[in-house]
Parts: sequence; structure tokens; C-alpha cells
Amino acid sequence: MSAAARCAILRGMNRCRIRALALCLCLLGPPTGAEQNVAPGANRHYLGPRVAVETWVRRFETESREVYAERHAIVAALDLAPGARVADVGAGTGLFVPLLAHAVGSSGRVFALDIAPAFVAHLRERVAAHGLDNVSVVPGEADAVPLPPASIDVAFLCNVYHHLEYPQSVLASLKSALVPGGRLVVVDFERIEGVSPRWILGHVRAGREVVAAEIARAGFLPAPAGHAGMLTQNYLLSFTRP
Ligand SMILES: C[S@@+](CC[C@H](N)C(=O)[O-])C[C@H]1O[C@@H](n2cnc3c(N)ncnc32)[C@H](O)[C@@H]1O
Repeated sequence: MSAAARCAILRGMNRCRIRALALCLCLLGPPTGAEQNVAPGANRHYLGPRVAVETWVRRFETESREVYAERHAIVAALDLAPGARVADVGAGTGLFVPLLAHAVGSSGRVFALDIAPAFVAHLRERVAAHGLDNVSVVPGEADAVPLPPASIDVAFLCNVYHHLEYPQSVLASLKSALVPGGRLVVVDFERIEGVSPRWILGHVRAGREVVAAEIARAGFLPAPAGHAGMLTQNYLLSFTRP
């Protein structure tokens, strides 16, 4: 049943019946065709009106964070050609943005996307402060990457996949935004039952194999991954858009 049809039914009922019906509709799940949220609340810390961006800068941009310590190796593994158009999906505080901007050069373009308004504002300030003329900051959407069809050569997600609430919808929009032959590169936490720390097991919903299977299901083809330094807590997966 569509969302509009559900609303029309609710409008014609009294409060008590509405509660009962709302419960039934919840049990039925999301409207037909809509993807269910697989990570409810995964981004709640980033989305509030009073997000302390400086706290996240300190947390994300510290040598004790593996992807920060290995940031140069990760960007090298993306193998970006000068002139390439790359989307940093879930750019966060923007730690990769200057490195990506340098890698693609003045003839290339970086699209730095995030769903958190505080990060989008911070990214804009960072881009302006560093005079990064080849970077566009784009407000993201939870269930889509709002970029035009065939507008990017590479999509890069670092520690973002496990924050995606609607991964299949996001992957479908990424598939459309990538040119045929374009690449999708995902860096995310290793999640191994009985091995990974408890906070990873609680915070990260799926491990490497599940993530790879979901991305393959969305129509991407596995591709050889570049060598991303000494990653041990994270993996790097690479895919091609057919
Ligand atoms: C753990 S942070 C990683 C930030 C950055 N990539 C890094 O490695 O420092 C995850 C980011 O993904 C963003 N995010 C979550 N879902 C998203 C979506 N559907 N589209 C764009 N950004 C998203 C969050 O707002 C957050 O900034």
C-alpha cells in the first residue's frame, strides 16, 4: 500500500482507531517498494542542530584513527587520474577532501557530500579557507546521492557504508551517477564475530563479505583493490560500474 493511501485512510478515522491502525501499518513495514531503514539512528550524533563539529574534527582527524593515519595510502589506492571526477560520499569533516582535490588537479572535480548540515557548513568553510576551486560541497540525502547521471568517475566512501540507512537506494543512485566503467571504492571497518572489539560489533551492522554481497546485488562488479597501506582494522573494496 502506498504512503499516500495510508495517509488518506488515517484522515478518515478517530484517534483510537488511528493508533490501532498505525500499529498495524508499522507491523506491515514501509510502503511497498520503499527500502527499509537498515541502520536506524546510525547518524543521530551528526544530525542534531547543536553538533559540535570541532569534537568530530578531533575524533576523525587523529593519528590514532587508522584511516587518518593511512589517508595518503588510501587516496593513492584510489588511483585517481588528473581530471577525474570523484564523489567523497559522507565526507564528514572533510579529511580526505584536500587530498582528493590535489589528486584530481585543477581539471578534475571533487564532490564532497554529507547528510549532516553541520558538516556541510564546515566543509564549505574548509573548502573556502583552502581555496579549493575544484571542490563542490553538496548536501546529501539519506536514500540517494544527489548527483546527475554519469557525472562521476569514482565514488569513495570511507567509514560511511555502515552509516547508510538505505544502502540499496544509495547504491542505485551511485550506479546512475557513475559513468560506465566508473569505480566504487569502499573503506570500512573489519567486523569479525569473536575477534572485533565489542564497540565495532555493536556499531557496525555488517562485515566485509555482507557489504561486498550487497554491493554486488546492486549491480556492481568486484574489481582488484589498490594497496591501501597497512590497513588492519579496515578493509578496502573496489567495484566497477558495468
Ligand atoms: C564516520 S563518518 C565518516 C566521515 C569521513 N568519510 C571520514 O572518514 O572521516 C560517516 C559520515 O557519513 C555521513 N553519511 C551517512 N549517511 C550518508 C548518506 N546517505 N549520504 C551522505 N553522507 C552520509 C554522516 O553524516 C557522517 O558524516
